[in-house]
Amino acid sequence: MKYCTRAAVSRNERIAESFYLMELDVGRMASDSSPGQFVHLRSLTPGWPFLRRPFSIYSSDGEGSIEIVYKVVGKATSLMSGVTPGDTLDVMGPLGTSFAPAASTTRVVAVGGGMGVPPLVFFCRKYADALDEVHLLVGAKTTAEIVVPIGLVVEGVKVTYYTEDGSKGARGLVTEGLRPALDAAGEGRVEVMACGPRDMLAETAGAARERGLRCRVSVEEVMACGVGACLSCAVPRAGGGYLHACKDGPVLDGDAVDWERWTGE
Ligand SMILES: Cc1cc2nc3c(=O)[nH]c(=O)nc-3n(C[C@H](O)[C@H](O)[C@H](O)COP(=O)(O)OP(=O)(O)OC[C@H]3O[C@@H](n4cnc5c(N)ncnc54)[C@H](O)[C@@H]3O)c2cc1C
Ligand code: FES
Repeated sequence: MKYCTRAAVSRNERIAESFYLMELDVGRMASDSSPGQFVHLRSLTPGWPFLRRPFSIYSSDGEGSIEIVYKVVGKATSLMSGVTPGDTLDVMGPLGTSFAPAASTTRVVAVGGGMGVPPLVFFCRKYADALDEVHLLVGAKTTAEIVVPIGLVVEGVKVTYYTEDGSKGARGLVTEGLRPALDAAGEGRVEVMACGPRDMLAETAGAARERGLRCRVSVEEVMACGVGACLSCAVPRAGGGYLHACKDGPVLDGDAVDWERWTGE
């Protein structure tokens, strides 16, 4: 079920340079929220842009509160960073499709790049106990851009870091660790999940396809309406036509996307 509610902000904390964690009291929306889904929000503060802004749900207590993690990149996120506890935001959600492992899946290799990590942490929190193994590969430009304290929040999940400057974990792109991680995934039914930049998703979907593995990717395409009305979030569909990230996604089957058309390669 989808809700549109005036949500009180109970926490809005800077967790790293340009990165904030916001907790919102959203009532029943919290219990209906699943990993991969997003909220579309706006503030009534003067100066807020015309459109709402989408953010993946990072956690839900299942009772009345959700958290998002956001990076300040422009007008709306800058205004959000100035919100204080007790202020309200107009929140629509939960929207879109979610990451949920297939019934037969026993192991998951999840790949998160940059701000693609938060929904995968929510996935780990919700599903890791029910799976034999979850291996989360986290990629960022530098240590400073790794904002989620994953080891603290998800016990039992294997986490491997890749940074482009080598300041944490291995030096390089997170996709360099993907095939070795799939080779090491061992016995059982392996599933692949990913959220992050377009090229990273394409590479991940390709590696899963080579091995005949189920792959789900979250396409965080720039959005306007968030509900399938404006067609601004088009993603080329395999076989022709377009999918829309807000309504068909953001979590899509890796094979559903025409990666050549989408990445321009
Ligand atoms: C489904 C979904 C989930 C998202 N989850 C998160 C999240 O958990 N945390 C988070 O920090 N951000 C997330 N985003 C991105 C977030 O919505 C944008 O950063 C935000 O809308 C920027 O608003 P702004 O007014 O501050 O910046 P704007 O002025 O609108 O944009 C500033 C810059 O950011 C770029 N930008 C805006 N949206 C995106 C996008 N989707 N992908 C790549 N570049 C973009 C613009 O092109 C521009 O260069 C998500 C986006 C989608 C579609
Ligand atoms: S954002 Fe309007 S159709 Fe997806």
